[in-house]
Amino acid sequence: MLHVIEKLLDVEELRQIRRQLDAAPWRDGGATAGAMARGVKQNLQLDDSTEPAVSLAAQIMRRLGGHPLFISAALPRRIYPPKFNRYTGGGTYGAHVDSAVLQVPGTGTTMRSDLSATLFLCAADEYDGGELQIESPLGMQSFKLGAGDLLLYPSGALHRVTPVTRGARIASFFWVESLVADAAARSLLFELDQTIQKLTQAVPEHQAELLSLSGTYHNLLRRWAKP
Ligand code: NI
Repeated sequence: MLHVIEKLLDVEELRQIRRQLDAAPWRDGGATAGAMARGVKQNLQLDDSTEPAVSLAAQIMRRLGGHPLFISAALPRRIYPPKFNRYTGGGTYGAHVDSAVLQVPGTGTTMRSDLSATLFLCAADEYDGGELQIESPLGMQSFKLGAGDLLLYPSGALHRVTPVTRGARIASFFWVESLVADAAARSLLFELDQTIQKLTQAVPEHQAELLSLSGTYHNLLRRWAKP
């Protein structure tokens, strides 16, 4: 299931992040790709272990942790610290799937990638091309979201970034290991949770029924979550 989470970052926050990224030392992103991906990856990345990448990643992590729609959709167990990339001058990332198991930097532990995330840090009209194309059971879907918007998609889906032919495409990207590995189960929980939220607004007087539905949600989560 694909999720668009709009306005994870507000305008002022974006402005401040962009100011730091525009002045940051970008380097060849091919160096950090796996053996299969290296041949198809032409972009620039920030060194994750230096500023401003470290503090910007922490800032995005805080936003994610406080965002109910992200929590509901991803049910995160672990989030890979957000990384940053920049595509310009024909930069592109050909078709690939993301690695299934990732080494979490600085922790000596590994995590499974269930969901991949792209947080768009510039407006769609700042560049041409640079579309994130994702294979889905319904065919190829193409995304170019607004500044501050987040796209969540299955890490196992074949995806690519088309060449940027004008301007620069700046984004943050990361992976999520979910408490619920099974995508179909996670999707059912998301639908149930969103419906309960809407009913709570629409018919707050039906407290007993809402309590019952909420209990069902938590008992399904208890059944399916693998902490
Ligand atoms: Ni990828």
